[in-house]
Amino acid sequence: MRIVLVGPPGAGKGTQAAFLASNLSIPHISTGDLFRANISRQTDLGKLAKSYMDAGNLVPDEVTIGMAKDRMEQPDAENGFLLDGFPRNVSQAESLDEMLQHEGMKLDAVLDLEVPEEEVVKRIAGRRICRNDSAHVFHVSYKAPKQDGVCDVCGGELYQRDDDSEETVRKRLEVYHTQTEPIIDYYKAQGLVVTISALGKVEDVTGRAMEALQHEG
Ligand code: AP5
Ligand code: ZN
Repeated sequence: MRIVLVGPPGAGKGTQAAFLASNLSIPHISTGDLFRANISRQTDLGKLAKSYMDAGNLVPDEVTIGMAKDRMEQPDAENGFLLDGFPRNVSQAESLDEMLQHEGMKLDAVLDLEVPEEEVVKRIAGRRICRNDSAHVFHVSYKAPKQDGVCDVCGGELYQRDDDSEETVRKRLEVYHTQTEPIIDYYKAQGLVVTISALGKVEDVTGRAMEALQHEG
């Protein structure tokens, strides 16, 4: 399956993507994670991306689209993928459509995670991520690690993202409403959108998502 995951910052896209990708045997492709990997390797792309990310703005399409395309062309993505954080505006959605059309492929579904704004603010404020693997995501109250600041999975150090400050989160939410939300209407016109509530336990949200995706594709 070829799926796009959409939802505000902190909706739980990364958390759900890890389970969905494993259940569906497709790679989880997160442009946010790809940028963060470039930042930690201190590449030119990472340096450029960091200045936009720290301000809560989108990284320019010229670099983002190329990076996402390169990743989707890897052999493990041949039979499907779960995109998390891409596309993030209508121009990226149009580029993705062109790219898929060129390969004779199409998207099967766009899974829209719905969460009230007060909840995403709480989720982001308490989020802690492992330095060794961005898939190891915790929350100080919703999913607390056994030992403070230490990853349960691998023992790595847990940290708070630079762009998770209150001010930057507000900016990211504004950017989501103005630039990303319009892709939902874009994909509704193609009959691809399934909306689920992302409130409740992580496993309940995964169950709802799997159920919704069964009817697509
Ligand atoms: P990105 O990394 O994509 O961040 P985001 O969209 O803001 O989303 P988050 O990672 O903040 O949240 P999430 O929905 O994955 O939530 P999570 O699962 O961690 O992008 C960052 C930046 O990169 C952008 O601002 C931009 O600058 C740049 N960028 C990326 N892609 C781009 C693109 N295509 N174009 C241009 N720029 C781009 O969960 C959050 C917390 O909640 C965790 O602590 C988790 O444990 C907890 N949680 C999850 N589910 C539940 C639940 N059900 N109940 C309770 N707690 C929960
Ligand atoms: Zn870890």
